This record gives sequence, C-alpha cells and structure tokens, in this order.
Amino acid sequence: MNRPFPKDFLWGVATSAAQIEGGAWADGKGESIWDRFCRIPGKVKNGDRLDVACDHYHLFSQDVRLLKELQVNTYRFSVSWPRIFPAGAGSPNQKGLDFYKRLIEACLENGIQPSLTIYHWDLPQALQDKGGWVNRDMVDYFLEYALTLFRELGDVVSMWTTHNEPWVISYLGYGNGIHAPGYANVPLFLKVAHHLLLSHGKTVKAFRNDGPKDGKVGLTLNMSPCYPVDEQAENKQAARIYDGFLNRWFIDPVVKGAYPQDMTALYERTLPIPFDYIQEEDMQMINEPIDFIGINYYSPTTLRADPLADGPFPFLGVEPVATSGPVTDMGEGWEINPDGLKDLLLRLHRDYQGLPIYVHENGAAYDDQVEADGSIQDRKRIQYLRSHILACQEALQAGVPLKGYYVWSLMDNFEWAFGYDKRFGIVHVDFETLKRTPKQSFYWYRQLIRQQGVVP
Ligand code: NOJ
Repeated sequence: MNRPFPKDFLWGVATSAAQIEGGAWADGKGESIWDRFCRIPGKVKNGDRLDVACDHYHLFSQDVRLLKELQVNTYRFSVSWPRIFPAGAGSPNQKGLDFYKRLIEACLENGIQPSLTIYHWDLPQALQDKGGWVNRDMVDYFLEYALTLFRELGDVVSMWTTHNEPWVISYLGYGNGIHAPGYANVPLFLKVAHHLLLSHGKTVKAFRNDGPKDGKVGLTLNMSPCYPVDEQAENKQAARIYDGFLNRWFIDPVVKGAYPQDMTALYERTLPIPFDYIQEEDMQMINEPIDFIGINYYSPTTLRADPLADGPFPFLGVEPVATSGPVTDMGEGWEINPDGLKDLLLRLHRDYQGLPIYVHENGAAYDDQVEADGSIQDRKRIQYLRSHILACQEALQAGVPLKGYYVWSLMDNFEWAFGYDKRFGIVHVDFETLKRTPKQSFYWYRQLIRQQGVVP
C-alpha cells in the first residue's frame, strides 16, 4: 500500500508560553502585556488570569511524558519574552533560559524535535510602556531577544518561527482591541503589522549569520480562504478584499517583497494613512528568503459587500457572513470546513511556489464532558481532526510540499479573551487540581501516528 504521508512527515502538537506556563512571577519573570490585560475588568472572560494557567512551568516533565506517550515526533511551543528579558532589555534572565533548556533537553531525550516560536503575543509590559509595536524600536528589541535565543538554544533547536499570527497581533491588539494591548485604531494596525514584518525580516537575516548552521526559519500566519457569499461581482470583490486584508497583506511582502497594491490603494482611500513609516530599504528586508511558511487553519471566511460601510470593517467595505454550516463551540465564524484547508494549501502552492509548508495549528474547541469513569469521549474533536488530516493528505497527493501537521493543542489552556472557557486540548486539564487526563482524541491521534498517517 502507498503511504499516505511520507516517512519523514512531522506529527506534532502545539502550545504557547502564555497560554500554558503559569509561573507568571516565578524566577524573575517580568510582566507581559497579557498579564496586564487580564487585570482590566471586562477584557477576559470571567476575569481569568495567567498566573497559574496549566502550571506547565512547574509541571513540564509531566507534560513531556504526555508527549512521549502520544508518540509525536515534534512539539511546537513558544518562549516567553518577559521570562528572558523581564525589563525588555539589559542582560537576560538565566533562570528563564534554563527553563527552556530543561524543556528542550527533555524533548530531545524522547526523540521529539522542538519547533520554537520566538513571539506568541506576550510582549514584556516594559516594552509596551515604550509604545509596543507602534514604536519602530521594537524591531531591534526583538532582534536582540532572538539573537539571545539563537546563541543560547541554537545548538538544540533547529526549527524556528519568528512570529505567530502577525495579523492577530496587529489587528486584534491594535485595530479592534479585543486582545492586549487593547487599542482600537485601524491605522495603528497597519503600522504595527509593518514593524512586525520588519522585525521578522531582520531576524531572518541575522539567523543566516548567527543562527544554527543547519537550522530552518520561517513565519506562521493565520490564513483563511475567503469565499464570496454568492457569485455576484461585488461579493467576489469583497472576498478578494478580505483576502488582501487577512492573508495577502502578510504573505506578499514576505514572499514577494511588496504589499498588495490593490490594498494599499484601498487603505489610502478609506483611512488617514500616509504609509510614511515605510522606509526605503524595509521591503527588501521583509523579503529576506525564509525556509518555510507555517499556517494556522481553523475555518474559511465567507464575505459579502457592505456598500454602506456600516459593518465591522467600514475601511474595507465588506462584511463576514455567518454560514449555515456546522461550527465548533467557538461559535459563529468557526465553521467546520476541511475543504477550506485543502483550498488554502493548494492556493499557497500555486501562488507562492516552492515554499515548504507546515500546518502549525489545526484543532477545535468543544465543551468536553468528563464521564463518570473519568474518561472524555470527544468524538466531535476526532471527527474534526480526522477530516482535516484527510484534507492534508489530499493536498499532499496534489503535490503540495506539506512537511508537518500540529494539533492545537496538547492540552486545554488559556484561550485569550475567552479565558479558560474554551477547551482545545487533546488532554483535558482540570484547572482546580491541574490534573491532566488524555481525551479519546489523544488516543486516536496516537493511533494515527503509530500507523504513520493511515487515518483510523
Ligand atoms: C491561534 C493561536 O495561535 C492560538 O494561540 C490560539 O489559542 C488558537 N489559534 C485557537 O484560537
């Protein structure tokens, strides 16, 4: 029988520092913008905080045992910037570095390749006090932080991601304010996006000189295929615009060296934005060649035109439409659509030729119930994962250079503005006792990995 997935395909799970670690004030860690944001009433559901989270900072050995039991060959996690630079700059906090050294060592001992994300949203508050990503100086603070990680961890980590989801950081953090630091100012979103991309490019360039010799470096984007609600020309155009806003604005500069012109023209019409923060050499820097692109896929987006511009995106003149299809427990907008993942992979292959791709996140939140016998029968999550892994298989067969797949997430964790309310894990976490219990999906995924990708 033909193998559905190549032998060297990477099967993993993903997490991020702020969402699982806790230990928010342990061993000299500084305050992050999310530690601060959680303390503003009304910003995070139930007033949930990051102080303890899954307490992975103290329980990481247990969690690596779970990874081993799961038989994944890779683990994607992020480093907490304020753990390394509590005050944003100065000398690094050795205890913070030691934590990641221990974690990585434990992974390697168990044959698990670490895939490290440098920035997954937890900026040191000390840098926010300097303006955060609105301030161009963040590019150099980020570079300093990344160089420290290359120096300290470069001998044990070969897969590196600069940023996770720059659209979310810039738009949700600065454009509509539902994420930290909570600004709602669309022109700021574009400026922040530029500084993130610039810090990415500059870091990739530095990686070639100062990073691990055989290491690979890339960027992870939250991409979503954009479909028109029907075949009317204005709705097709709406889908194209939203694709420009969410997808092309981020991948085009990195891979093609320029912002999409249609979007630049649109923003100049609808916003007070002179783009004067873009300096001459920036685009070349952003265009520094990368080794792979990571994509986080959950759902497609369906759009219609909003000619009166009274919807949530007046500066785009388009409006997302809730479809009648099934959704996960995240609710509206989280449509279950595995074909969307296949479309996205094929499109990346077509429009951004040759770039190796990882699905760096894919998964579903469900309101899992613990049965009387203590088990968690999360059949809907299995169904979700199954259909999306089959979509990956079809994309591979169509020639897409897909190299790996990571389930979001190893365990239930802090889902940003939703707090601990939404559970994405294949391991259940009791947030009172911190007890971890593998769900049925954990055993199902293990079976798939054992069978080298033959989908059970
Ligand atoms: C994307 C983010 O990278 C991750 O932090 C988040 O928890 C998941 N998607 C689910 O929303």
